[in-house]
Amino acid sequence: MAPRIPISAGNWKMNLDNEAADDLCHALLLPDDDAIHQVEGVQVVLAPGFLQIERVRDHFAGTGVGVAGQNMHARDSGAFTGEVSPAQLAEVASWVILGHSERRQYFCEDDGALNGKVTAALAHGLRPILCVGETTQERQADRTTAVLTRQVRQALDGIDLPHDFVIAYEPLWAIGSGQAATAEQAQAAAAVIRGLVRDAAGNDVADGCRILYGGSVKPDNAGEFAAQTDIDGALVGGAALDDQNFLAITRAVAGSDQGR
Ligand code: 13P
Repeated sequence: MAPRIPISAGNWKMNLDNEAADDLCHALLLPDDDAIHQVEGVQVVLAPGFLQIERVRDHFAGTGVGVAGQNMHARDSGAFTGEVSPAQLAEVASWVILGHSERRQYFCEDDGALNGKVTAALAHGLRPILCVGETTQERQADRTTAVLTRQVRQALDGIDLPHDFVIAYEPLWAIGSGQAATAEQAQAAAAVIRGLVRDAAGNDVADGCRILYGGSVKPDNAGEFAAQTDIDGALVGGAALDDQNFLAITRAVAGSDQGR
């Protein structure tokens, strides 16, 4: 099995104006010999708001840093006011976050809709980061595995998955709360997810699938998450808005922060 290249992904959500986005990009690129793309052994992905995708892409042109949409519609075109199609997104980005819990919670995205979005993203050559995760109530009711099973099975049903597909485990109670999951909780969930991918798509896809942890990832816990057997990186919200924090997380995810 080829080693899984870990991913350090920054989800900027609905933050940063153009000037602040430019400043963050400059800070991540400088100083040149210590820039984010110089960190070896990690795929960096940035997910700005739609209006800033092109400027972020231009800042990082030629560096290998990927740019992602935070959402997209499943249809190629049509009368869907306010939406962005996969074809439109694929012109400016190479990745897309799908099924983030904020989309599920505030914009009524369900597993069936996500199945269509994953299908469409892959058809347009976009690399999806499919987000799954349980609420506080679901965890307390011991339903975490059942929820992950429903989310993964339905979102991936009938889809021919690439061998390096990406899924992010983001428990809702850990997002923006400052209360991250423990490494053991995250590993247990990631193992469940990898097992579900194995059932759905076979050993090659399951062994190549990158599973990220997201939810209050910070420089001081990122390394512990990334060291877990089934965790291959981080999907970072708040801490990705600060260049030093995101750099430190990226180094920790790459395993190259020792001695710093
Ligand atoms: P925080 O890192 O701010 O908890 O957000 C996580 C997240 O939702 C990333 O998609």
